[in-house]
Amino acid sequence: MGLLIKGGEIITAETRQHADIFIEDETISAIGSGLAVPPGTEVIDAEGKLVFPGFIDPHVHIHLPFMGTFAKENHAAASAAALTGGTTTFIEMVCPSRNEGALEGYNVWKQKAEGQSACDYAFHMSVTRWDAKTEAQLIEIVRDGTTSFKIFLSYKNFFGVTDEEMFNTLKLAAKLGVITTAHCENAELVGQLQQRLLAEGKTGPEWHEPSRPEAVEAEGTTRFATFLEQTGATGYVVHLSCVPALRAAVEAKVRGVKLHVESVLPHFLLDKSYAERAGVEGMKHIMSPPLRDKRNLPTLWNALKTGLIETVGTDHCPFDKEQKLMGAKAFTQIPNGIPGIEDRVNLMYTYGVKRGGLDIHRFVDALSTRAAKLFGLFPRKGSIHVGADADLVVYDTKYRGKISAATQKGINDYNGFEGFDIEGRPSVVTVRGKVQAHDGVFVGQPGRGRMLRREPQR
Ligand code: URP
Ligand code: ZN
Ligand code: ZN
Repeated sequence: MGLLIKGGEIITAETRQHADIFIEDETISAIGSGLAVPPGTEVIDAEGKLVFPGFIDPHVHIHLPFMGTFAKENHAAASAAALTGGTTTFIEMVCPSRNEGALEGYNVWKQKAEGQSACDYAFHMSVTRWDAKTEAQLIEIVRDGTTSFKIFLSYKNFFGVTDEEMFNTLKLAAKLGVITTAHCENAELVGQLQQRLLAEGKTGPEWHEPSRPEAVEAEGTTRFATFLEQTGATGYVVHLSCVPALRAAVEAKVRGVKLHVESVLPHFLLDKSYAERAGVEGMKHIMSPPLRDKRNLPTLWNALKTGLIETVGTDHCPFDKEQKLMGAKAFTQIPNGIPGIEDRVNLMYTYGVKRGGLDIHRFVDALSTRAAKLFGLFPRKGSIHVGADADLVVYDTKYRGKISAATQKGINDYNGFEGFDIEGRPSVVTVRGKVQAHDGVFVGQPGRGRMLRREPQR
């Protein structure tokens, strides 16, 4: 039986048009006005609503052993929350620790997701050490369709790579034609500053940001760009948080370094005063890079509007209050991360498109199309055209609500955006032609999601 999305206004990264969308099996088979469809077709009335391509979150953590605990998340729950909020595909970071092999880690992450996720998903493969077997294992992983790497310049002795390991990874990435994403902070400086602050008795969450100042992120960004330049690899800075790091990235872009920039939901809406709240309230807002001084926010928004920041992810990484309290005696022990997979689309639509002058096509581009193109999912994902997967978000711009942990679908016991207004939310969300969420309710099937195997980008 076919599905007809009738009478909506289709908004892509480039175009807008009032038209019907007809879906057969899993893909879009026709777009046009007053489409004649076979008897028995299910009709979704999208009159007065916008129709977006399914949104793609290019940066999430679901299975994550980290900082002495595990992210409080699983694929069934995260994908249900994602779909309710309009995200139909996510790309999860595979993050083996340094004492695990790359392939061993990759297989663990694949098994965790398999048969669990309701939405489609792909992986970025983190390279967390380099030994005699790493190159062959990474080649095998790329052959399996995971065609993007991740490196951490931070988290020394855990996920972090040395400069030599970064060089080897980027050399291989250039040879294979795959993109490398990077967390850019100087690990040595972070470690030294943390020790100095703790020795001075500065133990609360408000000292997290001073332990990883903007200059430390700018240095990481500059160094990553220099290594890209010398290896000819293509890079992607994840969760960029501040003006000095943005300057470093733009400086590299203008000298021809193949560097792309992502920022994430918290850095557009929150500032370091959230992490300066007393006790667990501050701890809820500890992430790395940290929330910054609010003077950074207007520049990040401008960079998003002009495309210098190309994509918006979440860095979804939930820990509950009990886990956050592991850092009650020292901010260095607070598990880093905040959830966001459910709220990215609605919050960026509200504070970007509705209230912030963000062009609606740039919104679609930044939250869907650009990630699809950068990470080899396009044209199957990230747009609305005949032949594409029928991943669609019928969006109700008249909905009004507030973010609240009490009503969220995610399993975490807080929401870092508590009380934020929402002006719009998905009314119907489809993945490959099947309705998965309806007006804030998940109606899909855990386990229906597929791992998306991708080709190298060149
Ligand atoms: O604080 C964060 N960002 N936690 C998740 C791990 C990472 O660095 O992306
Ligand atoms: Zn990171
Ligand atoms: Zn991350």
